[in-house]
Amino acid sequence: MLKKELVITIDGPSGAGKTTVSKMLAARIGYRYIDTGALYRGIALETQRQGISADDEDAIALACKSIDLRFRIEGDDLRLFSGDRDISDMIRSSQISMRASKVSALGAVRSFLTVLQRRLGEERAVVFEGRDMGTVIFPEADVKFFLDADTDIRAERRYLELKARGDDIDFDRVRRDIVVRDTNDSNRKLAPLKPAEDAVHVDASHMGIEDVVDKMVAVVTSIRP
Ligand code: DC
Repeated sequence: MLKKELVITIDGPSGAGKTTVSKMLAARIGYRYIDTGALYRGIALETQRQGISADDEDAIALACKSIDLRFRIEGDDLRLFSGDRDISDMIRSSQISMRASKVSALGAVRSFLTVLQRRLGEERAVVFEGRDMGTVIFPEADVKFFLDADTDIRAERRYLELKARGDDIDFDRVRRDIVVRDTNDSNRKLAPLKPAEDAVHVDASHMGIEDVVDKMVAVVTSIRP
């Protein structure tokens, strides 16, 4: 058992396996997990529905005021709702991935989601995964991980995920999209993707998921009260 209720962050690039690992880590230690990328995807989807261009920050800022995103836990699954509509599956397309990466560079979107994410962390005992969780949203987090893997391995993982959803997509396109998103996410002015100075780096390129999670559990359980 853990000695106290921690805030744990896992940041890293697309396709590194953050969602799977966060979910498994949280289950092992009896914590909740929050996939913050889903929130950026939710904003991307809802603003697209309203016909707003991904560059129109004023219109997106205005739209954010009436977007009501909330998570619900259903069995083992974390579902994202917009109002009372379950948008969990709709936000996973590659088109929404690219749009999420674009809108996530906007200050209006980041400040809107900063408030929401910090509120979700108030109860503690949570694993947050994203890009800036350990650097910007929870700089005081108790344990920070940076999970990475080789580009080809990440592209392969994302490709298999999209295939399993039934998307008609080819590997080269998925790999190209991953590289574009990495570049966008790492080079934007606000809260770029980078490891926190005190993050524990985990390279999952040649490790099984179970080994990654074992390693994280070992780090987390070594924290003193
Ligand atoms: O983790 P993901 O692929 O679902 O994230 C979608 C996009 O959202 C990603 O390209 C960048 C953005 N994002 C972010 O800027 N900050 C986060 N904490 C999480 C995601």
